[in-house]
Amino acid sequence: MPSLTVRQLDEKLKQRLRLRAAKHGRSVEDEVRTILRAAAADTDSFVRDEPSHDPALAHDRPASSKRVLLVIGGGIAAYKSLDLIRRLRERGLVVRVVMTKAAQQFVTPLAAGALSGERAFTELFDPASEFDVGHIRLARECDLVVVAPATADLMAKMANGLASDLATAVLLATDKRILLAPAMNPRMWAHKATRRNLAQLVADGVAIVGPNAGEMAENNEAGLGRMAEPLEIADAAGALLAGATGALKGRRVVVTSGPTHEPIDPVRYIANRSSGKQGHAIAAAAAAAGAQVTLVSGPVNLPDPPGVCVVRVESARDMQAAVEAALPADVAVFVAAVADWRTASVSGEKIKKGGARAPTLALTENPDILASVAQRKARRPKLVIGFAAETEKVVEHAKAKLARKGCDWIVANDVSAESGVMGGDDNAVHLVTAAGVESWPAQSKDAVAAALVARIAEAVAGDGR
Ligand code: CTP
Repeated sequence: MPSLTVRQLDEKLKQRLRLRAAKHGRSVEDEVRTILRAAAADTDSFVRDEPSHDPALAHDRPASSKRVLLVIGGGIAAYKSLDLIRRLRERGLVVRVVMTKAAQQFVTPLAAGALSGERAFTELFDPASEFDVGHIRLARECDLVVVAPATADLMAKMANGLASDLATAVLLATDKRILLAPAMNPRMWAHKATRRNLAQLVADGVAIVGPNAGEMAENNEAGLGRMAEPLEIADAAGALLAGATGALKGRRVVVTSGPTHEPIDPVRYIANRSSGKQGHAIAAAAAAAGAQVTLVSGPVNLPDPPGVCVVRVESARDMQAAVEAALPADVAVFVAAVADWRTASVSGEKIKKGGARAPTLALTENPDILASVAQRKARRPKLVIGFAAETEKVVEHAKAKLARKGCDWIVANDVSAESGVMGGDDNAVHLVTAAGVESWPAQSKDAVAAALVARIAEAVAGDGR
């Protein structure tokens, strides 16, 4: 099929198209597509085509399709972004691509254009595309911006509001949610400058997926820094798009999850049996309802929930610092099984056996993160929710905890060995509030999360924000 671009049309026709596009608030390209679609629909009445079963080839889109602007940054992970285009289109999303100059060292605009179904945009100062589409339109004519791979350089530019090329100008001009899929060398990811930029971007409301741990492209390098897989990024994008109209849209939610590890010496630690399943499910459900979620998680073997910013910590004190950094928030849900005590001192060397007596561990109490947030004078979240892990007199202890910690609700569960809650998939909880106690039936942790998020949405609705 011959290719035709708007630029090849005669000036008079172009002018007419521009006027028509402006009248309908569409880009010239979209206007042409609309005209062609209408013409093709007319043809459908007498020509019967076999529908294509390859969603990636279905270039026409129903009027309701959501649009994703995919910004491809310059890293080796850019090759996975080509697969990401297909994964997004498989979900019925319309994908438009912007590529940085560095990205073009790894993949070509031709490949990205062929997979997305329209040309990839690369230049800020391209008179033709500025006239037809322009960076402001690119920034606005979408429902979500996905940056994959988000390099350290791109993150630094975003955090500082630079707009030196098309990609950064679009990212500064957009009023849509942005999802970043960082990808870089583990040392670059761990660098203080990147941590600062990440914290700034999260504070600005940017959602993050990944990075994952694993082998790097470089020889013998491994660690945290691999871009999340295309399916994970597409899931995160889907969750953000679904949440764009959700009941917690625009709310900030902080969730703690998992156990904490309190070091004894370089190889040993004190821990507990928490799997993180309930906390992660609540973070996922809040993100699916449109909230900007920061999940502060102790060590767990669970994938990051889609559309959630995950901060990984080890000890109770790290968890407290990460929660403080994530404030202000509208809602805070403390699901983590925080170790109540840590060792009074941590041995710098591995403690050896063979002494006259077995060593004695002196313990000191950890900060109570829930109580410290619930009792804050300034920047207290509107709704502070604690969990109570009890092995007996569940409701009685939960009521006492509600009063003692100063939180608004307590979700109490029986964690005795026979209940199978710790590490299991189901949970039977009691919601304890000032109004009374509700006992929910035993259900999956996902169902508990969905029910709790629905109650949170009701509680924060109508507070004028
Ligand atoms: N919690 C916390 N920081 C701590 C201990 C607990 O934030 N240092 C939070 C938990 O995340 C949970 C709630 O407090 O939301 C209750 O935790 P739980 O372990 O049931 O209670 P404790 O305060 O530890 O009291 P106890 O062990 O005496 O039952």
